[in-house]
Amino acid sequence: MAPRKLAAGNWKMNGDLAALAEIDLLREAYPDPGCEVLICPPALLVHPMKERVGAHKMTVGGQDCHANASGAHTGDISAVQLKDAGAAYVILGHSERRADHGETDADVAAKAAAAHGAGLIAIICVGETEAQRDADETLAVIGAQLAGSLPDGASAANTVIAYEPVWAIGTGRTPTNEQIAEVHAFMREQLQGRVSDAGDVALLYGGSVKPGNATEIFAIAHVDGALVGGASLKAADFGGIISAL
Ligand code: G3H
Repeated sequence: MAPRKLAAGNWKMNGDLAALAEIDLLREAYPDPGCEVLICPPALLVHPMKERVGAHKMTVGGQDCHANASGAHTGDISAVQLKDAGAAYVILGHSERRADHGETDADVAAKAAAAHGAGLIAIICVGETEAQRDADETLAVIGAQLAGSLPDGASAANTVIAYEPVWAIGTGRTPTNEQIAEVHAFMREQLQGRVSDAGDVALLYGGSVKPGNATEIFAIAHVDGALVGGASLKAADFGGIISAL
């Protein structure tokens, strides 16, 4: 098995029922895409989006889940509930959740274990801040986040890793190809020993991926796809990225 090729869109806290029209445009433009296409909308839209996807092979995912399957956790959503609503994936440990909600690596590992238990594929996000890169701490930060966020039982079948430098998210700035290559090779190496089929785990790059830079980024070794924010909101932009993969 080779790593899955995945174009994943993270709508973040954007979109409404009317925005589901973008799914129709994607379905029509890419009846049989050459890669896996995933959209992670706000949780309220997971089920209607799944209905809108219909028989198309596009998949739908969540942007977070609770570590418990059910219970007294007002405002939270469990992995089991996401699965029930039609999700196949869930993004976990995005830097916005780590910053806005104080999520730790241990929280992410617990959520990923819950996701696996519910039959979801966990997309575990890691990435350094600009200050950490300037201090030459990038690989140490990524190594620690990976070590702490991966649950026992992670495999290529149930886990995807997304490298998202915090300073590249929504800024129009991207690392150099060499910087992306260095981190992705390092992540592949770090997975050895933690994951039996480490060579087959899909490694995504995220942070200001656009149709104009996607081809170049996808040509970098160990980049198996992208986690896309802003450019996933419009079918025309996301389509350019799907085509590049
Ligand atoms: O999850 C997606 C990332 O945060 C990237 O967002 O493509 O808007 O930079 P962006």
